[in-house]
Amino acid sequence: MKHTVTMGMALAAALLWGCTQQFAGVKSMRGEDVAAADKPQAEKQYLGGRPGTTQKIARTFSTQPPVIPHEVEKFSDVNLEENSCMDCHSAANYVKKQSPKISDSHFIDPVSGKKLAEGSAARWNCMQCHVPQVDAPPLVGNVFVGNVAN
Ligand code: HEC
Ligand code: HEC
Repeated sequence: MKHTVTMGMALAAALLWGCTQQFAGVKSMRGEDVAAADKPQAEKQYLGGRPGTTQKIARTFSTQPPVIPHEVEKFSDVNLEENSCMDCHSAANYVKKQSPKISDSHFIDPVSGKKLAEGSAARWNCMQCHVPQVDAPPLVGNVFVGNVAN
């Protein structure tokens, strides 16, 4: 019995040492003082110039809502009465504004499944799915490879 306990303790010590070795040199993103209050992130500026002067950004997987390549600050009015994104992207305006038309999927009523003449209200809040860009390199590297080449 005593022998088993000693063996168990030796094994635990070996495992602990192994773990310490494995994680030696790992730097926490929080810093070492884990009890310190979190610092708020600096506010980032959205990237992108005037619509019509930017390039579409390649999608990384099928069904991805394309990200917004242009500036958005001037077009943030999306409320009950108006939607400044639709000033350019709606079926009625896209030709005149030389803008990409909202996708065919945006004309399908999600309840009835019927095709609508103008975009569905369920898609009214564009930036719920389409995100503007900021200069924010990934905190941790990754090897993600998308499934579309465009
Ligand atoms: C003044 C016209 C205009 C306004 C307003 C506008 N866009 Fe655009 N948008 C464009 C044009 C033009 C492009 C194509 C890229 C370019 O030429 O700069 C584009 C590109 C995009 C794309 C990329 C499409 C793709 O296939 O990659 C998305 C998503 C988008 N806009 C969403 C929005 C959202 C959301 C808003 C409102 C916050 C908005 N746009 C407001 C004109 C506009
Ligand atoms: C619920 C998520 C969602 C909302 C809300 C939404 N979109 Fe999209 N959008 C998508 C997805 C996903 C795609 C990719 C094509 C597809 O699957 O239909 C897309 C594609 C697009 C495209 C590219 C068109 C193309 O032919 O590929 C434009 C432009 C666009 N959306 C504009 C808008 C605008 C403007 C609004 C607001 C009025 C909006 N979207 C609201 C998800 C959304």
